[in-house]
Amino acid sequence: MIEYPRIAIIGGTGLPTLTAMQVYDSEWPSTPYGEPNAPLQHTRVGGEMLTFFARHGEGGAFAPHLVNYRANISVLKQAGIEQVIAVNVVGGITEQMQAGAICIPDQLIDYTFGRADTFFDGSNNKPIKYVDFAEPFNAGIRQQILMAAETLALPVVDGGVYGCTQGPRLETVAEINRMERDGCDIVGMTAMPEAVLAMELGLEYASINLVVNRASGRSDKPLSLSDIRVLQAQAMPKVEKLLRQTVQNLVALRDSESS
Ligand code: HPA
Repeated sequence: MIEYPRIAIIGGTGLPTLTAMQVYDSEWPSTPYGEPNAPLQHTRVGGEMLTFFARHGEGGAFAPHLVNYRANISVLKQAGIEQVIAVNVVGGITEQMQAGAICIPDQLIDYTFGRADTFFDGSNNKPIKYVDFAEPFNAGIRQQILMAAETLALPVVDGGVYGCTQGPRLETVAEINRMERDGCDIVGMTAMPEAVLAMELGLEYASINLVVNRASGRSDKPLSLSDIRVLQAQAMPKVEKLLRQTVQNLVALRDSESS
C-alpha cells in the first residue's frame, strides 16, 4: 500500500516547485467546488514525505483573486493532509520588513472582496459555521518553524500582521499608509481565504512569508520586477531549507507523540 503524507506545502508564485522534488504519485481530483488549480504532488524530500501543491497552477497561470481556494483546500483535506505550511511572497510595510526578510506572521487582516471564502454558507444542506478565527495561524506549526530557523541560524521575524489585498494590481501609497495605521506589517494577495478555509476543515495551517519588495511608498526606488526575481532566486533556497527542517521537526514530533 502506498503511504501518503500528512504534511503539505502550498507554494506560491515564488515557489512553483521544490528543488530536487521526487514525485512518487500525483493526483488531480475534482471537488464539489470545481477543479483545483494544480495536482497534488506526493513527494519525498530529504527522506520526509510531503505533498506539494502549486497554489497558482503549475505554470502560475491563476491570478490571486482567481485561485480556486475552496477546491485547493478541499483536495488537501480529502488526501488526508493534517498540517499545511504555506509560502507567500509579500511586500514589506514596516521598517523591519526589508526585502529579503522572512516573516512568520501571527495575525492577518482581510481586505479582499468577492472571493468564495467559506465552505459553510448554508448551501448544499451544510449548516452555517461561525469558525473561531481569532488566531489564524496555528501556534504549534509556527513554533516548529521558529525552532527550525534557530537550528539553521536563519534570521526570521517572529510575528507580524499580514494584510491581504485583492490584487492583482499593487496598492496605492494611501492604501499602504492606511494598512500601516491598521497595524499591518506585510502585504500580500493570497493568505485569504486560504487560511480560513483551512481552519474550517480543521487543517493546522501556518505560513512563511518572504519579503520581496518594499510596499508602495516605502522605498525611494521604483518597483522593479527584475529586482524581485533576483531577490527570490537568492532567498528562496533559504526558505526551502527552512521548510525541510520544519517538516523534519513536525514528523519527529508526531513520531514522538505516537510512540
Ligand atoms: N503588495 C501586494 N502583494 C505583494 C507585494 C506587494 O507589494 N509584493 C509581493 N506580493
